[in-house]
Amino acid sequence: MTDNTTRTDLFEPTRMGAIELSNRIVMAPITRSRYAEDGIPNELHATYYAQRASAGLIIAEATNISAQGRGYAATPGIWSEEQTAGWKKVTEAVHAEGGKIVLQLWHVGRFSSVALQPDGQAPVAPSAIKAEGDTYTTEGFVPVSMPRALETGEVPGIIEQYRVAASNAKRAGFDGVEVHSANSYLLDQFLRDSTNQRTDQYGGSIENRARLTLEVTRAVIEIWGSERVGIRLSPVTPDAGNTPPDSNVMALFGYLVPELNSLNLAYLHFVEGATATSRDVPEGVDMDALSGLFAGPYIGNNNYDLDMAIERRAENKIDAVAFGRLFIANPDLVQRLRTGAALTIAPRESYYGGGAKGYTDWPTGNY
Ligand SMILES: Cc1cc2nc3c(=O)[nH]c(=O)nc-3n(C[C@H](O)[C@H](O)[C@H](O)COP(=O)(O)O)c2cc1C
Repeated sequence: MTDNTTRTDLFEPTRMGAIELSNRIVMAPITRSRYAEDGIPNELHATYYAQRASAGLIIAEATNISAQGRGYAATPGIWSEEQTAGWKKVTEAVHAEGGKIVLQLWHVGRFSSVALQPDGQAPVAPSAIKAEGDTYTTEGFVPVSMPRALETGEVPGIIEQYRVAASNAKRAGFDGVEVHSANSYLLDQFLRDSTNQRTDQYGGSIENRARLTLEVTRAVIEIWGSERVGIRLSPVTPDAGNTPPDSNVMALFGYLVPELNSLNLAYLHFVEGATATSRDVPEGVDMDALSGLFAGPYIGNNNYDLDMAIERRAENKIDAVAFGRLFIANPDLVQRLRTGAALTIAPRESYYGGGAKGYTDWPTGNY
């Protein structure tokens, strides 16, 4: 058995805004698609998150802020009273184990199907440009639908959806919220010139394309206070159809990240490289230069192992590391990393769908 605590401060407590973490190891948001159609968390989900409460911070999976924001069956919501009450069971279970948990606020934008939208309507997007790829419905995988462009006058209603969801998350007992502005969903669609061809104040210039992410973040801050709000960005992740990232990633995020500094957020969270794929970045993009523009705590994610996390922490490139897939089959990941115990690799079949199997039945290690 090793004692990795001598090699790094990743196992020591820290603080992100007003959130106290018992260590610098974060559970990344991972959709597990194990919810009923009503999107209400129950005891199963409470058990799953409580098992992982030794993470310094759990970022709960992407959670639909509204029926319109939903793009996949079997994902949770936070727009109704019943969903809010369900999440309360989750936060209480995590807190009982001494953990901290924030909720990732999600609107998929164009990445949805009419089969998932209220009254079979078209999904909404910055512009009427169809995504490539399939989404998951109760009937199985179907191609995503042609979206319609949001009217300028509808944008305040979108911001209101985030505000209501953030307020529900507060009543549900979370320690904060993460604005999901990554992975080609609504806010990311607004950021990128490949998906945003608007001519109003939400399109065109970088300032205009970044406007919705900033307005949503400010609205959520009004509910939570800035020190309990984080944000996730994935500057170079292509969408499902491999639509390239923005034509000028450095200029776009070189504008957005300093703008976030003025908001005094709890943290900035980047997916470094293509989400759950590769840490490679296109020529001319420097992720460390972009994250280095942020003045507050920075969480790095994507294909990390402990050694890489220790090295990047020692170089002061990250304040904390988020692990996604490793938390699936290692509920006690922090303890295993601390002691050098073997890690279990979750098979892909366990990622999405089903019930307790492959979800809450992973053993804790011997150490
Ligand atoms: C099964 C699965 C579900 C995911 N769900 C989400 C999600 O809900 N929100 C999100 O921002 N990223 C999501 N991601 C991306 C992860 O948060 C993370 O960025 C990615 O897995 C890379 O980290 P890792 O190498 O530690 O797994 C998901 C990834 C996987 C594999």
